[in-house]
Amino acid sequence: MEVDTLPVIIQGGMGIGVSSWPLARAVAQLGQLGVVSGVALDNLLIRRLQDGDAGGDVRRAMEAFPSPSVASETLRRFFKPEGRAEGEPYVLVPMYRQVVDSFRNQLTILANFVEVWLAKEGHDGKVGINFLSKIQMPTLPSLYGAMLAGVDYVLMGAGIPREIPGALDSLAKHEPSSIRFDVQGAGEEEEERLHFDPREFFEGLLPQLKRPKFLPIIASNSLATMLARKANGHVDGFVVESPIAGGHNAPPRGEKRLNELGEPVYGERDTVDLKKLGKLGLPFWLAGGTGHPGQIEEAQKEGGVGIQVGTLFAYCRESGLFEGLKRTVLELCKKGEVEVRTADRASPTGFPFKTVEVESSLTCPETYETRKRVCDLGYLRVPFRMANGRIGYRCPAEPVRTFLAKGGSEEETQGRKCLCNALLANVGHAQSRGNGIEEAPLLTSGDGLLTLRDFLQGRDSYSARDVIDYLLS
Ligand SMILES: Cc1cc2nc3c(=O)[nH]c(=O)nc-3n(C[C@H](O)[C@H](O)[C@H](O)COP(=O)(O)O)c2cc1C
Repeated sequence: MEVDTLPVIIQGGMGIGVSSWPLARAVAQLGQLGVVSGVALDNLLIRRLQDGDAGGDVRRAMEAFPSPSVASETLRRFFKPEGRAEGEPYVLVPMYRQVVDSFRNQLTILANFVEVWLAKEGHDGKVGINFLSKIQMPTLPSLYGAMLAGVDYVLMGAGIPREIPGALDSLAKHEPSSIRFDVQGAGEEEEERLHFDPREFFEGLLPQLKRPKFLPIIASNSLATMLARKANGHVDGFVVESPIAGGHNAPPRGEKRLNELGEPVYGERDTVDLKKLGKLGLPFWLAGGTGHPGQIEEAQKEGGVGIQVGTLFAYCRESGLFEGLKRTVLELCKKGEVEVRTADRASPTGFPFKTVEVESSLTCPETYETRKRVCDLGYLRVPFRMANGRIGYRCPAEPVRTFLAKGGSEEETQGRKCLCNALLANVGHAQSRGNGIEEAPLLTSGDGLLTLRDFLQGRDSYSARDVIDYLLS
C-alpha cells in the first residue's frame, strides 16, 4: 500500500451514533478518513424511523438498498411519519443470539448499508466503519451491509479480530464466512462459530464489492505482531491507542492497581514500542491525546502515517451527540470544570471506560442508583455454556437477580452500567420507561477533553472543518 495515498487524519469511530454519517461525511469531504460507528446501527435505524426520519435521509438511503423488499418491510414495521407520541416507548427488535431469523440479519445489513451510504453520498472521499470485536453476534451481517455501500476501511478495537480479514475476503465475493464465537465455560474441543451466508439474503445479480482495508486498533506490540502474522488474511495497518483515549481502554498489563479515585494505573509496560511496531512493515496511526497541532508530524517522526482523533470531533456540530449534552460539556470545558475519569467497573465488558462527569447522567450516583435495571438491547451480552449444554446469554448490567440465576456472581454486577441504553440516550434516542422517565445518558471522552478549552478560544460551537484545520495547522 502506498503511504502517500493514506489519510493523515482518521476521525475515530465513536459509538453509538456519535460518529454518525454527517460527521464521517464532513471529514471525508475534507480529504481525511471519516468513520461511522457500526455499533447498534440496527436499533439506531429503527429509532430514527420511529421518530419520523425528519429530512428523509434514512429513507433516501433505503431506496438505494439492493433488496427493496427488505427496505419496504422495515418501513412497514417501524416508520412513523408523525414520530412517536409523547412518552411512547420505542419498539424493539429481538436481541442478537448465535442464530437469528432472516429479517433480524436483514435489518442489520440494511442499517449498516444506510449509515455508510449516507456518509459516502455525493463525494469521492474515503469512509470507514468502526466495530468492537467483543460484540461478535451482529459482526458478519454488519460488515456485509457496510460493504454493499462500498465502505473503504474497517476499523476494529476491543478484542482480537484475528478472523476478520478472512471474513472480508469472503464477503467481498459474496461467499459464506464464519468467525469463532467465544462462549464462556466452553471447552476448547467444543468450539462454536457464527456463520453468515450472503446468498441467503439476495437473489439474482449481486453487486460487485471491493474488499475494504482492515485496521485493527491495538494497545500492545504482542497483539499487533500476532495479528500481522497469524490473522487469516491481510491486515492493512494499525491504530495504536493509548490509555488516555476516549471510549474503552485496554486494561493495564500485569497486576491490576487502582489509584485513590479507583482508576486503573497504567505504566511503562502499557506503551507500545513504535520502533518494534514499525518493523512489521505496516502503516500505523497514533490515537489517544493526539488532537493537537504538531501531532501528525510527531507521529510521522515515529514512523507512523498520522493520527486518529476522537474527543475533539465528538463535540463538533456534525457529531451525533445530543445538542443539549454537547452544550453542557462545552460550557464545563470553557469554565475549566470538566472532569474525565477512567471508570474501572462501569462497562459490562470489564474493560476500563472513560466517563465524563455530567449531572443527571449515569456518573451521578443518584441517577445510577434509581435506574431500574433492564437488558433489552443486549449488544454486550456474553454467551455462556449452560448446565444443559445449551448457550445462554448474560450481561452484568442486567437485573442482578437475572444475572445470578444465569450463574453470574453478585460481585460482577457491582457498578456496571447499561452502556447500550445510555449510549443511545447520548444521541437523542433515550428509551421511555413510563411515567415520564427516560434512560439517562453516559458520556465518554478522552483526557484531551481537559484541554479542549484551548481549542475553543471562547467559541460556543465549532465544525469538523475547524478540527481538521486545527490539526493540520
Ligand atoms: C465519544 C467517544 C466514543 C468512542 N467510541 C468508540 C467505539 O465505539 N469504538 C472504538 O473503537 N473507539 C471508540 N472511541 C475511541 C476513538 O475512536 C478514538 O480512538 C479516540 O477517541 C482517540 O483518542 P482521543 O479521544 O484522545 O482523541 C470513542 C471515543 C469517544 C470520544
